[in-house]
Amino acid sequence: MRQMKGWMKMKDEDKKISVEMSNTDGQENLTGHFLESENPEKLLEGAQPFMELMSRYRCAMMEVETKLRVLDEEFSLAYDRNPFETIKSRLKRPVSIIEKMKRKGCPLTVEEIEKQLNDIAGIRVICSFLDDIYTLADMLVGQDDIRLLEKKDYIIAPKPNGYRSLHLILEVPIFLSHSKQYMKVEVQFRTIAMDFWASLDHKLKYKKDVQEPERIAEQLRECADIISSMDERMQQIRDQIEKGKRED
Ligand code: GTP
Ligand code: MG
Repeated sequence: MRQMKGWMKMKDEDKKISVEMSNTDGQENLTGHFLESENPEKLLEGAQPFMELMSRYRCAMMEVETKLRVLDEEFSLAYDRNPFETIKSRLKRPVSIIEKMKRKGCPLTVEEIEKQLNDIAGIRVICSFLDDIYTLADMLVGQDDIRLLEKKDYIIAPKPNGYRSLHLILEVPIFLSHSKQYMKVEVQFRTIAMDFWASLDHKLKYKKDVQEPERIAEQLRECADIISSMDERMQQIRDQIEKGKRED
């Protein structure tokens, strides 16, 4: 049985919503809790609304991904280039949702989950060049059905550890049979180089009993800075090439 673990490229088969979805992200984990539970009836009552909630997030994720793919399509026709290299989508796993809600000290209800968490549906867009990040983000936010709730620009203001990316929390409407609902989606934009750093940083975070953690952190920060200046150089090279083309 297919299970969405972490971030992965969205294949066509992933885009089928509903039934398949409830078999994976919802049921499998819920069955585990269900078996351990002392009050299985109560848990079962809660399972259906939860799966419906996850299904709505999956639809919202598909909407935003499609919007980005449409922009990519238009760009490749009009300017003969693709503004992003890859796009990856993921739904937060039920276990992680439960953990985060507990950490926040919030009750585990569908309403609270929807209110408290911004990153149940997540899309990561990996671009070749810095400028493409802002071009794509501005175009997406400019669409009249998209609401921008939050913008964190960790490229202009990197995290102290060196992490860089542009994070948006958006709301996108999904049209169901009898209603229209706005759902939150987190979109992270980064360059290939930033993504390379972030994935290695993520791997190293889980290493236990590291000696001289401060020294390690400093080296990671240095690597992030090197990567950042490479991104700037690459952008400058592209600008020169574009300028050359225009002057021809
Ligand atoms: P969360 O509650 O973890 O979502 O934090 P937040 O609400 O402060 O969100 P923020 O926008 O700072 O970061 C959210 C996501 O960005 C994380 O879930 C990671 O995917 C990514 N991220 C943020 N900081 C780092 C970092 O230092 N290293 C790596 N590898 N990823 C990061
Ligand atoms: Mg998060």
